[in-house]
Amino acid sequence: MSIRIDPWGYSVIEDYNKLFDLFGIQPFSEDLISQLDEVPYYVRRGIVFGHRDFDLLLKSIKRGDRYAVLTGFSLSGKLHIGQSLVIKSINWLASLGNSECHFILADLESYLIRGIPLEEARKLAEEDVLPNAIALGLDPEKCRIYLQSREKNVQRLAITLSKRVTFNELRAIYGFDPDQTSTGKIFYPLINAADILHVQLDEYGGKKPTIVPVGADQDPHIRLTRDLAKREGFVKPSSIYFKLRKGLLGEKMSKSKPEAAIFLSDTPEMARKKIWNAFTGGRPTAKEQRELGGNPDICSVYEAFVYDLIEDDEKLLEIREKCVRGEIICGDCKELAGDLLEKLLEDLACKREEAKEIAKQLLSE
Ligand code: TRP
Ligand code: SF4
Repeated sequence: MSIRIDPWGYSVIEDYNKLFDLFGIQPFSEDLISQLDEVPYYVRRGIVFGHRDFDLLLKSIKRGDRYAVLTGFSLSGKLHIGQSLVIKSINWLASLGNSECHFILADLESYLIRGIPLEEARKLAEEDVLPNAIALGLDPEKCRIYLQSREKNVQRLAITLSKRVTFNELRAIYGFDPDQTSTGKIFYPLINAADILHVQLDEYGGKKPTIVPVGADQDPHIRLTRDLAKREGFVKPSSIYFKLRKGLLGEKMSKSKPEAAIFLSDTPEMARKKIWNAFTGGRPTAKEQRELGGNPDICSVYEAFVYDLIEDDEKLLEIREKCVRGEIICGDCKELAGDLLEKLLEDLACKREEAKEIAKQLLSE
């Protein structure tokens, strides 16, 4: 059986268990969770479903080793709510021990993969992505933030690493179609690998364990980077994987379908409207739903409760049971989701305004 994960596609992964056998991702097991002092709700609920060598990272953290927490985002659209858990996880991961932090604004990626001009990407970072990330808790005092296009060490390392990979190796991982793929896209994975590995150069304090929290679709980059690390004598980076959100229309949340996702800069009214049109696990009529119950497992409104809106497990369970028993109908949930989103978005908007000044300073030349 062959399935391929496409870091640039819009695929929905139906069965996460397959990724364990096919790619050697390790399940984020109960045993692993029991080693943590603080277990964030997204870990507890299995939203972080897998990892590579996170157990090894924990061991070296316990020894007191310095480690890096590192992640980033392509600048191809405004930040949506599906991206917020990765950002929130930075502070949790950094709190585990003696850490440093790096946050990547991937403007070379949005240029090489989507053709977005660098200046446009920088603007998007300055006005939306970075202010929202800071509003979600990214701390610019503790975390180094950079644009790929401005980091000579990353670019140089990408070139060095490219010498060590053949086209066939890349094709085996990414499945490039030779007729359809620009050489820029073929080269891009080396930049992503250099983002992750350059923090082990002498200029940044030398070799160190690194933890990369990312969406499951980024695993191809992680596999390549770990192979390269071995070849070049770096410490192999560890990763944790977040499930990909289905989004409000029942497909993976994508930046190019604005109705399918709540953007962090949406107004509460816009968010309410999207929730109102969202895909649910409800029945065609209220009468049927009261008799037969709904299906929270396929419901995007319930997904929003699980991922973003309700941290209290008991409250969540109550909604689930009431749904299944037909004691609530979708209108009730949508009303509640709208109210909770309003609070969340207003709070973010407030913090974002302060963050805009900081973002501007960081990204002006
Ligand atoms: N590829 C990531 C994305 O599409 C962004 C990214 C660039 C990144 N460099 C990285 C993520 C290094 C983690 C580590 O969003
Ligand atoms: Fe989803 Fe609520 Fe409808 Fe159940 S009642 S299907 S949880 S919106």
